[in-house]
Amino acid sequence: ARVFVPNDTAARSVGADAVAAAIEALELDVEIVRNGSRGAYWLEPLVEIDTPRGRIGFANITATQVSALFADGTLPNEDHPLSVGLVEDIPWLRDQHRITFRRAGLIDPLSLSDYRTHGGWAGLEHALTLTPQAIIDEVNASGLRGRGGAAFPAGIKWQTVLNARSATKYIVCNADEGDSGTFADRLLMEADPFQLVEGMIIAGLAVGATRGFIYLRSEYPHTIHVMTRALELARSAGMLGSAVMGSPHAFDLVLRVGGGAYICGEETALLESLEGKRGVVRAKPPLPALSGLFGQPTVINNVLTLAAVSGIASHGGAHYAGFGIDRSTGTMPFQLGGNVLRGGVVEVPFGITLADLVTRFGGGSYSTRPIKAIQVGGPLGAYLPESQWGTPLGYEHFAAIGAMLGHGGVVVFDDTVDMGEQAEFAMAFCAHESCGKCTPCRIGSTRAVEVIKRIRRSESTRKNWELLDELCETMELGSLCALGGLAPMPVRSVMKHFSGDL
Ligand code: NAI
Ligand code: SF4
Repeated sequence: ARVFVPNDTAARSVGADAVAAAIEALELDVEIVRNGSRGAYWLEPLVEIDTPRGRIGFANITATQVSALFADGTLPNEDHPLSVGLVEDIPWLRDQHRITFRRAGLIDPLSLSDYRTHGGWAGLEHALTLTPQAIIDEVNASGLRGRGGAAFPAGIKWQTVLNARSATKYIVCNADEGDSGTFADRLLMEADPFQLVEGMIIAGLAVGATRGFIYLRSEYPHTIHVMTRALELARSAGMLGSAVMGSPHAFDLVLRVGGGAYICGEETALLESLEGKRGVVRAKPPLPALSGLFGQPTVINNVLTLAAVSGIASHGGAHYAGFGIDRSTGTMPFQLGGNVLRGGVVEVPFGITLADLVTRFGGGSYSTRPIKAIQVGGPLGAYLPESQWGTPLGYEHFAAIGAMLGHGGVVVFDDTVDMGEQAEFAMAFCAHESCGKCTPCRIGSTRAVEVIKRIRRSESTRKNWELLDELCETMELGSLCALGGLAPMPVRSVMKHFSGDL
């Protein structure tokens, strides 16, 4: 029999390694598989056991519970008090529609044969039979938009790079997942790393690039370990190198580790950093698609965008476009966190409401107290009051209420939160992470922190409110990049919906 013990950063942080070691020490006649994680973090460590009926789960297992779980050296079954039954029947997982995360937690992330058995490399195999234009047509048909947060159509970006004339082009994966409350990139890379590799090779074929870089944040040491090994395995299996899958196409991938600056998730600062320089934002134009890494045409996409491409190439763009609403096609891996009962990665088609996500999947607040605010889209996203929770999760729907989906982070706060403190935090975050290149962000954010402090110190005068409003406007209109441009968003949402806390 096979016993699965998750091996991703989140499961390990709550003791999965000790659980695996304790099972091993029992010397049972079983094969221990370190799968990734299903991203159901509220159940971790989630030990699973293969049975003829499917995989049975045992949730929140601690190392000290292991000997009782396998009492007398026998495998526990569904009647065991710690059992959560068939894992695929857990409503939280069953009610998702997983496309990008369909293999997460199911497979051993570093098993090439697992990957292939579960549909891996089929997209690449198909892409190798297509012209670059036909690959891009398929991506356009899918309606896939950039999952890093800006939601720019991936196919249009790729077309710009394909049309650019240059002997050298690059594919860069932005894996500098810096938004607080986000972890889907990490889970994808730790649970199904070959999917990212496959997506990047397909991007290379589509635009005529033979080299790619993954820019991975140093704060993810386990991800670095998994990705490094995945690249070695993919290379030794002939997926990377001078003849991809035995074809005449060359493509190779290199991993680069960032130094830990939020701004290096901004694409041009990331490119500077990749070139070995300090991560400072470049003015656009020129677009990276025309003049990116080392001045060459570059596709730069988020982990989830590139990963989604492998499924689009195997199942067709139309299949992907069949999910979602309006111009928000496909699925989005939302990341539920903060004060929520059932946190983790929830991949669903665009279009369900925020309330549905947070109550049906999230199960309400962890503290059981009433929820007061939900921040969507990372530290630069708006705080939404209850009146807005009925908004469908779609790019345009969120823009219409002065909010954004960003990279899909959803952080829940109960009624003990001080929203004035949150507003101050948003600006302080910007002041701390500002690259310093432009004045509205470098100076404006520091001044705005001072003004918010004054307002919170009961100098809530009309003059201070107007000053804060003006500073926000200056940052929105005058900042060179999204950090300074978006930092006012959470502040404005507090001014508008939670003014009593200021
Ligand atoms: P942007 O709207 O300037 O650009 C989006 C992308 O489209 C860029 O890659 C740009 O180069 C490309 N592009 C634009 N016009 C193009 C054209 N005509 N042809 C080809 N490519 C074109 O947005 P930006 O500044 O790249 O990203 C801002 C977003 O980043 C925010 O909305 C926020 O949600 C997100 N963000 C994500 C974080 C994360 O951890 N994932 C952290 C912070 C912000
Ligand atoms: Fe740098 Fe801030 Fe200007 Fe962006 S807005 S370029 S982070 S100073």
